[in-house]
Amino acid sequence: MIKIGIIGATGYTGLELLKLLSRHPAAEVTWLTSEQSAGQRFGDVFPVAPALGDQVLVASASADLAGVDLVFCCLPHAASQGAVAAARQAGAKVVDLSADFRLHDPAIYEQWYGHSHQHHDLLAQAVYGLPELHRAEIAAADLVANPGCYPTSVILGLAPLARAGWLMGPIIADSKSGVSGAGRSLSLGAHFVEANENLSPYSIGRTHRHLPEMEQELRLLNAESGMWHVIFSPHLVPISRGMLSTLYVTLPEGVEPAAVRECYAAMYADEPFVYLLKPGRVATFAHTAHTNTCAIGLTPVPGTRTVIITSSIDNLGKGASGQAVQNMNVMFGLGETVGLM
Ligand SMILES: NC(=O)c1ccc[n+]([C@@H]2O[C@H](COP(=O)([O-])OP(=O)(O)OC[C@H]3O[C@@H](n4cnc5c(N)ncnc54)[C@H](OP(=O)(O)O)[C@@H]3O)[C@@H](O)[C@H]2O)c1
Repeated sequence: MIKIGIIGATGYTGLELLKLLSRHPAAEVTWLTSEQSAGQRFGDVFPVAPALGDQVLVASASADLAGVDLVFCCLPHAASQGAVAAARQAGAKVVDLSADFRLHDPAIYEQWYGHSHQHHDLLAQAVYGLPELHRAEIAAADLVANPGCYPTSVILGLAPLARAGWLMGPIIADSKSGVSGAGRSLSLGAHFVEANENLSPYSIGRTHRHLPEMEQELRLLNAESGMWHVIFSPHLVPISRGMLSTLYVTLPEGVEPAAVRECYAAMYADEPFVYLLKPGRVATFAHTAHTNTCAIGLTPVPGTRTVIITSSIDNLGKGASGQAVQNMNVMFGLGETVGLM
């Protein structure tokens, strides 16, 4: 059994992880941390079944880091850096769900997150945890930076085109997220009256912090790729969970829609969690709700060189905790789909 600790277990990703790991045949959750709810039962914080609720939360300072094989760190960015460093120091492998180890360049991290990175050594060792792109490196990694939810939907939606060198000009990424994407702590935009029956764009253009992560990974797929950039428009939709990115790409001259479909089919043919919808179908929230999958639809626009890609994930599934368990499976040499199908 893999002994596991979850730091920041009282957030939405922590809850989802605990649910997934309780059904995983090789996982044993040893401890859960919370600063604000330390000493309480997990079931006092979330309405869950008794089997999940009986474990008592501990403060992170008293978590037995050396007693586990793997730590899932579910803290906000900045807070995660020190917790990840302590877990690695104690010898545990780490899957970090925050943004703290996703950007390879500390200067870019500082530019987007507004503070300097405190652990350049760990940043250099961290592997970006998108198995469809980095499976072999994840298998050998001690620290995996689990991707952001928006980046997962956008990168998987564009990766075949990026690898083929068919990205050019501005790529419009219009994305929608359920409210759990903002986490459990209170914020005005997530209040029921603000979010319900509303649709709100936020941080649109080139201002959202997930933008550099998307561009970093897409550029790594083809060093020769030409001049392109992503215009990213995230929106909050009044549902609890789910994510859909609608991506508008202008193809280079001479690239036919059939070649685009072949390119996606080839890249994802053997992927257990990414599937291509039949021609004429578009991805919706419902395709992936409560799963670790990504559904992709391809819609060429007749008479133009535009293709519209729809890419759906569950923000707490493939966008966070499901993908974190997928990474655990890869890191520990288990079947990649164990506990996730
Ligand atoms: N929600 C998503 O869909 C999603 C998707 C991808 C990635 N992520 C990332 O995953 C991480 C966790 O997200 P979440 O949605 O689960 O967040 P959340 O619901 O806001 O929960 C945050 C957790 O971190 C703890 N915490 C908050 N501030 C802390 C601090 N300064 N020091 C120590 N502990 C602190 C909280 O514990 P207490 O009980 O002590 O308050 C809570 O357990 C974030 O970095 C987020 O960006 C989230």
